[in-house]
Order: sequence, then structure tokens, then C-alpha cells
Amino acid sequence: MDRREVFNFSAGPSVLPQSVLEKAASELVNYHGTGMSVMEMSHRSSAFMDIFADTKAKLRAALKVPETHEILFLQGGASLQFSMIPLNLTAEGDRADYAVTGNFASIAAKEAGKYCDVHIAFTGEADKYVHIPGQDELSLSPDAKYFYYCSNNTIFGTAWNYVPETGDVPLVCDMSSEILSHPVDISRYGIAYAGAQKNMAPAGVTVVIIDRNLAGHERKTTPLMLSYQRMIDKDSMYNTPPCYNIYMLGLVLDWLKEQGGPEGMERIKHAKAKLLYDYLDDSSLFRGCAEKSSRSDMNVTFRTGDDALDAEFVKFAGANGLQNVKGHRIAGGMRASIYNAMPVEGVEKLVEVMKEFEVNHHV
Ligand SMILES: Cc1ncc(COP(=O)(O)O)c(C=O)c1O
Repeated sequence: MDRREVFNFSAGPSVLPQSVLEKAASELVNYHGTGMSVMEMSHRSSAFMDIFADTKAKLRAALKVPETHEILFLQGGASLQFSMIPLNLTAEGDRADYAVTGNFASIAAKEAGKYCDVHIAFTGEADKYVHIPGQDELSLSPDAKYFYYCSNNTIFGTAWNYVPETGDVPLVCDMSSEILSHPVDISRYGIAYAGAQKNMAPAGVTVVIIDRNLAGHERKTTPLMLSYQRMIDKDSMYNTPPCYNIYMLGLVLDWLKEQGGPEGMERIKHAKAKLLYDYLDDSSLFRGCAEKSSRSDMNVTFRTGDDALDAEFVKFAGANGLQNVKGHRIAGGMRASIYNAMPVEGVEKLVEVMKEFEVNHHV
């Protein structure tokens, strides 16, 4: 299939901007006359050190990261943060609050439970994670070392539309599937982190933004590779960093700037998501899965109510060039991931194909 005939709705790894891929392709074999690919360079070389510093500066500018916070480029995916966070922020017996609004927050809470006293501040498990709690639904512990939440739940298509208020308890947030899609006040977070493979770069680099005051308190047994302080001291180069992914992130950040940065993205994402949700609310065949007030602009989940019909739609969408609209296996139904790099034309085409399917499968 020709790339121009395909819209890729994958939840991650996901679509990257066309111009970024073209730029990367043009520099793949010989980066800026060095006679080398970025993949082949020493991470200590001046050419790569420039790429590294530029990418970090671009990310700091895009998210307006204050000087109190460090930016780290780590490995191990977002999932390794599930362990790294309690291993650095708690001692045995310490308490940490977790809001469990989806699968990844649930895994994070279970992982943290190996190391500290996890208090479930909210769980949406009973209602299949269709709901994001309001501030008054959170059961907060004043003595918690941190409050953990996942701002966008990739699998269930829900998002927090506010930043929880936790007093002096630092906020720790998994922003994997929404980072850079809207402005955020990083100064409110102790740690904000995200795997790259949705809005930032190919899988392989994890961005961790951390208030320096939270580093340096890791347990004695915390592996060196999992020490935030170690990584801060070594500017993410305690070992070989994921060089090529960092370079790709730099290219994506250039593209993002051309789109108006997170502010520009916020306007576009609302418009894109509205197209789909407006149609879902009118449709007599499809319906959205998440509660209206908890809907995500990044991952739109929907279903017909009939598994066989859902499967038929996924096939029909694929035949029309709309790839990866099948829902996650634990949620079923369909999911359209419409991250920053998904053009509005992709969403328009999806709505068009859904309408056509609805006409032919009227119930
Ligand atoms: C919100 C969220 N957190 C964590 C993860 C796990 O990320 P990784 O596969 O990079 O470990 C994902 C993966 O999709 C995710 O969507």
C-alpha cells in the first residue's frame, strides 16, 4: 500500500509527521556532512552532543520546563518508571497514593506495592475505567510521598481534564499518551514522564522531567541505572543513551514548533476529537465508550455493542486505508488514536468510512 493511502490510528508506536520522516530519511546516511549516520556516532562526539543539547533545549522551550526541573532521556519505556518512581521516592514503609484510572496506572500501583505502602486514592476498575474522578472523589493521604496518576488512559480513552490538587504531596504523572498535545504547568509536578512512541519519537526513549529536590533520596539497593540522581549527574549519559531516538525527538520538536507548539496542538486536537465525538453522539450504530466528561482527545474508544460487527468494521476500515482501529484486547471494540501527528484529514476519512458502514448496517 502507498503511504499516502493509509491513515495509521495505532496507539503506539504511532504515526510520525511525514516531513519528519522525510527529513530523517534525507539525513539517514550522512548527517550534516559528517560522513556518518546519527546511528553510527559516538554519543560523546561533538556532533551528537550538539543534537542532544538542542533536543533538550527544544523540549525545555516547548513545555516551558522551569530551571528547578531536570529533563532526562532514559530507556526501559514508560513501564520502567513504574519501578523507578517508588525506588527513588520512597523508603520501606512509606506511603504513596495512586489513582487507578486504567490499565497502566493499575500496573504502576501493583509494581509500587512491592516497595512501599500503596494507598488506592481512587479506582475505576468496577466501572471498567470509563470515568475519571473529580477532585472530591480522591481519597488523599496527607503523609504520602507522592500522588500518582496517568493523565491520559490510552486503552480506555479517558483523560483528566484538570490537575489534581494534593497540597504539599508531589504530583507524579504518566503523560505518555498526551504529552505535548497541550500546554502544562510543569512547576506543579514532582515528576512528569512519558514514553516517546505516541507524541514524541519512535519507541526507545523515555522522557522524565523531575524536580531536582525529589532526586537523591533513592534506596541503597536501587540499581545505579535506576537512580534519578545518577542520571542527573551524568546528564542522561551514565551509559549510552538512545541516541537515534533523541535525534528523532529533536526533529519532531522542530515540527511541533511549526504547528504552534503545545498551544497550537491543543486547538487542533480539540477540533479533531470533536469531529469524531460529534459523529458518535449522533450515530445510531456506534457509541463512545468513555463517559462524556472523561473523554480523551488522544484515544477515542467506541463500539457497536456487537463484537462480530466491531470486527467487521475494523476489516472495512482497513480495506479503506484506516489501519489499527481495533480496540485494545482488554477493552474490545474500536479505538482511534489521534495523536499530534494524525492529520485532520485522517479523522475526516474515519468519520466518512463510519458513516458509510452505518448506512450499510443500519439497526
Ligand atoms: C499511558 C501509558 N503508560 C505506560 C505505557 C507503557 O509504555 P512502554 O511500553 O513504553 O513501557 C503505555 C503504553 O502504551 C501507556 O499508554
